Order: sequence, then structure tokens, then C-alpha cells
Amino acid sequence: MIQRVRKAIFPVGGLGTRFLPATKSMPKEMLPVVDKPLIQYAVEEARAAGIEEFIFVTGRGKSAIEDHFDHSYELAATLNERGKQKELQAIRETLPEPGQVAYTRQQEPLGLGHAVWCARHMVMNEPVAVLLADDLILAEVPCLKQMVEAYERLGGNMVAVMDVPRPQTAAYGVVAPGRRDGRLVEVKGLVEKPKPEAAPSTYAVIGRYILQPRVFEHLGRLERGAGNEIQLTDAMARIIGDGPFHGYDFAGRRFDCGTRVGFLEANVAFALGRPDMRDRVKEFLKNYA
Ligand code: UTP
Repeated sequence: MIQRVRKAIFPVGGLGTRFLPATKSMPKEMLPVVDKPLIQYAVEEARAAGIEEFIFVTGRGKSAIEDHFDHSYELAATLNERGKQKELQAIRETLPEPGQVAYTRQQEPLGLGHAVWCARHMVMNEPVAVLLADDLILAEVPCLKQMVEAYERLGGNMVAVMDVPRPQTAAYGVVAPGRRDGRLVEVKGLVEKPKPEAAPSTYAVIGRYILQPRVFEHLGRLERGAGNEIQLTDAMARIIGDGPFHGYDFAGRRFDCGTRVGFLEANVAFALGRPDMRDRVKEFLKNYA
């Protein structure tokens, strides 16, 4: 029987060094694209995919994320007093149901694999989604929803993949592919940050995963991989033989908001998608071509 995915992990314990000084005292995941923090896009995507429990793996200096998903009594009261109903609605929409959110802390940023492992007791024995908020995906059907629909037919493990230019493979986890069927690519192997000449393909793993709980056993060995970090890719590579493992070549555009240019591009793309802003943004962009 294929167990439904009800829980999602949001690893937000990283240092965001590529975005300094912005991230000195503010979590990278709170950077806004247009007017919404990255982490809120990720939570909304998870909700659209049917996720009911949201597990944040935070770190030092990340309390703004907890505040963002909490009631803000003073702000709500002031907006109410001033008759700002639209704004009031916007902050209400950020609120998860009581008890739907849990936080745990990664005491040291030892890598993505380590952050995911920190959530093991909250996930227990069921499949879990992992979403990296700095991979922002613009799609008609939210990326994780596309994956959950495929997962409900196939079960096993699944990662979002995207075809990247070969010179860029060293920035990603890369799939050694088997058969391709529509958007699905069989995963035969996974390598973290391979040099272009050694990469088994150009299918890069993007920050959306559906994983079976056995991955925690391997993460629990706390073995260091590329960059001396505990890599999720290495633990996933060890569960490839366990059952189906697919890459899902999602429909949509991904923006790497962990980098300055990716973040800027996301802002432009999302602004152009907003009917209230599109025309003015198009107009001023002409000045910079
Ligand atoms: P990144 O590789 O982008 O690392 O992490 P980073 O530390 O956030 O940023 P840079 O490279 O220093 O600029 C990908 C995701 O994994 C989380 C990050 O918060 C981000 O969502 N992460 C990474 C953790 O939660 N803990 C870690 O130890 C490392």
C-alpha cells in the first residue's frame, strides 16, 4: 500500500553565506519575492499538495520565521482599527492551523542531510516531503503537487529534476538515469556536485523531495560528503535499491533564490505574473535593456 504524504520538512538552518550581508541577521528564507517571503511560497506549495504537518528545521537567528507563522496581535488589532481589511486578510492567510507547525533546531549547520535528520522524531515511520525554500518554482500546478500525484501511483522515493547545462553540474546533485517515461526518469544513482566531465547526466536534483523514512537510518551515520557536509544526496543514493526511485522533470520554471541573480530574476518573473503590477514593471524594465 502506498502511504500518503502528510508531512513536510523545511530545512531552514543554513547560513546563507552567498547572500551576505542581507542574511547577517535575517534568514535567507525570509527574503521577499515581490511581497512574500520565500518560506511562505514553500509552505503554500506544500499545502496545495495536501501536506498537513509542517516541520521547520531552524537554526540560530531564524526566529523571524517562527514569528511569521504566528499570530501578530498588535498588528492585527491596528489593521482592524484602521479598516485595512485587505492587509488583514493577507496576514491571516499566512497562519497555519493551530498545532500544524512544529519547529526543531539544527544546532550546527552541518549540511542539508543533517538538517533533514534533525526532524526524524517528528516524521516517525512515514513518507515525508522536503522543500528547500530557496528553490522557488513558478508553475501552473505547484511542483510538489505534480510530484505527489505521480507518487500516489508509484510510491517509493522521488526527487524533482531539471535539465541543466553540463558546465553547471558541479552545483547540484546529479542523477544517473535509467529509463525515461513522460516526466519520470528512473534514478539508478545519485552523485553530489560532480565535475561536468564526470557527471552521469545533466538531470540536476532541485529542492523538492518525497522520501521514505529509511533515509533517516543512513543519515544517522552522519557521514561527511562533498564540501565536508552531511549530504542528503549520499543518504538517498543508499536507498536506491529499496524500491521505486524516480526523478520528476516538473513543469514550471525554477529560480535559484540562494543566489543574487536568481533572486532578482524571480522578482521580475513573479512581478510580471501579477496583474496589479505587470504593466508598470514592463514599462520600467525598458529603461534597463
Ligand atoms: P544551501 O546549500 O543553499 O546552503 O542550502 P546555505 O547555507 O543556506 O547557503 P550558502 O550556500 O551558505 O549561501 C540549501 C538548503 O538547505 C538548508 C538551507 O537553509 C537551504 O534551505 N540547510 C543547509 C540547512 O538547513 N542546514 C544546513 O546545515 C545546510
